[in-house]
Amino acid sequence: MRRIPDSFVDEVRRRVDIVDVVSEYVQLRRTGRNFVGLCPFHNERSPSFSVSPERQVYYCFGCQAAGTVVRFVMDIEGLGFADAVAKLASRAGLELPFAVTDADGPAAPAGRMQRLREAHELAARAYNHILMNTAAGVQALTYLEARGLTRQTIALFRLGFAPESGDVIVRTLTRRGFDTETLVASGLVVRLGDRIVDRFRGRVMIPITDAQGHVVAFGGRTLSADAKPKYLNSPDTPIFRKGAVLFNQHQARRGIRATQTAVLLEGYMDVLSAWQAGVDNAVATLGTALTAEQAAVLKRYGQRLIIAYDGDSAGLAATERAMETAEQAGLEVRAVVLPDGADPDEFIRARGGQAFVSHMRTRAMSGLEFRLWRLREAAELQTDAGRTEFLRQALELLAERATPIEQETQLKKLSAEFQVSFEALRAELLSVRRRVSRKPAPALDLAAQTPPERDMPKGYVEAGNLLLQAMLTDPDCFELVLNRGVTELALPTQTALLALLYGFRADHPNGDMLAFLDTLEDPELIRLASSLMIKEPLQFDAKVLEDYLRTIRKHQLTVARQQALRALAQAQLDHDWDAVSRWKARLDELQQDIAELTSDPMNAGWRGKGGGEL
Ligand code: UTP
Ligand code: MN
Repeated sequence: MRRIPDSFVDEVRRRVDIVDVVSEYVQLRRTGRNFVGLCPFHNERSPSFSVSPERQVYYCFGCQAAGTVVRFVMDIEGLGFADAVAKLASRAGLELPFAVTDADGPAAPAGRMQRLREAHELAARAYNHILMNTAAGVQALTYLEARGLTRQTIALFRLGFAPESGDVIVRTLTRRGFDTETLVASGLVVRLGDRIVDRFRGRVMIPITDAQGHVVAFGGRTLSADAKPKYLNSPDTPIFRKGAVLFNQHQARRGIRATQTAVLLEGYMDVLSAWQAGVDNAVATLGTALTAEQAAVLKRYGQRLIIAYDGDSAGLAATERAMETAEQAGLEVRAVVLPDGADPDEFIRARGGQAFVSHMRTRAMSGLEFRLWRLREAAELQTDAGRTEFLRQALELLAERATPIEQETQLKKLSAEFQVSFEALRAELLSVRRRVSRKPAPALDLAAQTPPERDMPKGYVEAGNLLLQAMLTDPDCFELVLNRGVTELALPTQTALLALLYGFRADHPNGDMLAFLDTLEDPELIRLASSLMIKEPLQFDAKVLEDYLRTIRKHQLTVARQQALRALAQAQLDHDWDAVSRWKARLDELQQDIAELTSDPMNAGWRGKGGGEL
C-alpha cells in the first residue's frame, strides 16, 4: 500500500542521515568507515550492528537485520512503509504530500485517523483512571487482583474499567471537542435511539494496540459470570481490523525477535498471565481464527511459532487450523497441549510460570507429531479394527505431510508399537502415497531452496557476491554486467537479487540503490544486498569483473558438462543411439567452450553457442 510518490521518498532519504536516526536508539561509535553498536534487534554483548554513513545502510553481523533508514524505522518502530516515511519526513521537516495509508483499507484522511487514535488514547486513560483511582473501579481491581495480576502488569497493559453508568466516554470525548459522528465511528460509542451511549459498560477494559503501540481498540470483560458476551470487542474501524492485529503485538515484538519465536495464545488473560510469568513473546488473536495476515506479521518478527491454545477440544481443533495458516505463511510451527483442558492462564496460576515455560520447551510437538497425536486421541486402540484404522490414517498423514526422514522415524515407531514389520508399513505407505497426491509443500523461502553453499566451489559463490557488490555500488559496473547478459549466479538468492536489480533499473533508469533496497520485500534479499553494500568497498575495474564473470561462466559450463555426461551414460544404457550422438555432440561443444574460456578469456561470450539449454 504505497501511495507515496517515489520522488518524495528519495527526498526524505536525502534529507536524513541514517547515523543520526539510528543514534536515537543505539549508541554508536566509529570504527573505520562504519559506525558500530549493540544491535537493537537481538540481545548481544559485543557490538555487531554496523551502520555505513557512506552507503546509508545498516547491517547486523549477528542477526542479519539489514536495510535502509526507512527499513530501520519500520522495524524498530513496527511501522509500515508509509508510516515510516512519514515519520522520517516530519523529522526532516518535510510536509507530507499524502495521507498515511498503511493502517488499513481505503485511505482515510490522515487527520481523521489521527482523531480516532486520540479518542482511543483518551478512553484508555479514562478507563485506567477509573480502575485505579475511583470507587467505581474497586470491584474490578479486586477482581483482577484475585486473578493474580499484579499492579505492575495492570499498569503496563493499561487495563481499565468502564463503569455501568455508560456515559463516561461520551462525556469525556465530547468535552474534548469530538463530534457525534467521530464518536460513533470510533466504535467507543453506540447510538441508542436518538441518544448516544458508551459501548462498554460494567467491563474490565483491555486496550488493544497496533504495531506502533497506539491504542486502536478494546476488549471488555464482564465482571458478572452470566453476562453475555463474556468479552465484548471493538468493531472494525478505520484504525482497526481484527484480522490484522494481534493482542500484545507491539510489546512482544522484541521478545519474538530475540528468540525468533512467537507464542500464540487464545485469550487476553493468557497473554497477561504469561507476560507476568516472564514470557515476553506471547500474542493472541482477538477471538477469531489466526488469519494469513496475522501469520505474515509474526513471520516478519521471527521464524518460529509455538501455538499454546486451550487444552479443550475446541482449542485443539483451533490449533490445527492455526497451524495450517502459519505453515502456509512459512513459519516453523510447533504446538503444545495443556493437560486437563486448561488454558495457559489456568495452567500458570495452578503450576507457576516456570512450569509453563518448561512445558513449552519440552512438550512442544512438530506439526506432524501434533496431527499424529490428534489421530491417536480419536482412535480406538483397544480393538483390532480401531488399530488398523488408526494405522491407515497415520500412513495417509505421513504420505501427505512427512518428509522422508520423518516418514522413516515415524514408521519405526509405529512398527515397534503396533508389532507390524517396518517393511509392511513402508509398502503400505508407498501405495497410499500413490493414491493421495502430496499436498503442496508450504511456501518455501528462497533461503530454504538454496543448495548448501559447501557443495559449490567457494570461488563461484564469492564471484557472484563480488559482481553484485560491484553492481550495487558502481553504476559503470552495472552497465558492464548488464551488457554481458549475465542472468544466473551461484545461489538462488544471488540470481533473484540480480533479476530484481535488472527489473528496477529498467523501471528507474536513474533510481539509486537505496530506493532499490526499499523495494525488496524478502528479508533474505534485503540481508544479502545490505551486507554487500556495507562491505569494505573494492576497486572494481573491467579486468576484475571479467575475472568474476569467467569464474561463474566456467562453473556453469562444468555443471553442464557433468549433466551431459550423465545423460550420455543413461542414453547408452537405454540403447538410444540418437540421444547418444546428440549428447556426444553437446559434450564436444561444451568441451570447446571450456577450452576457449581457459585460453582466451575475453572471448568466451555469455551468449555464445552452448548456452543454458540444459
Ligand atoms: P475464552 O472464553 O477462552 O476466554 O476466550 P479466556 O481467555 O479464558 O477468558 P477468562 O480467563 O475467562 O477471562 C478466549 C478469547 O476469545 C475471545 C477473547 O479474545 C478471549 O480472550 N472472546 C471470547 C471474545 O472475543 N468474546 C467472547 O465472548 C469470548
Ligand atoms: Mn481463561
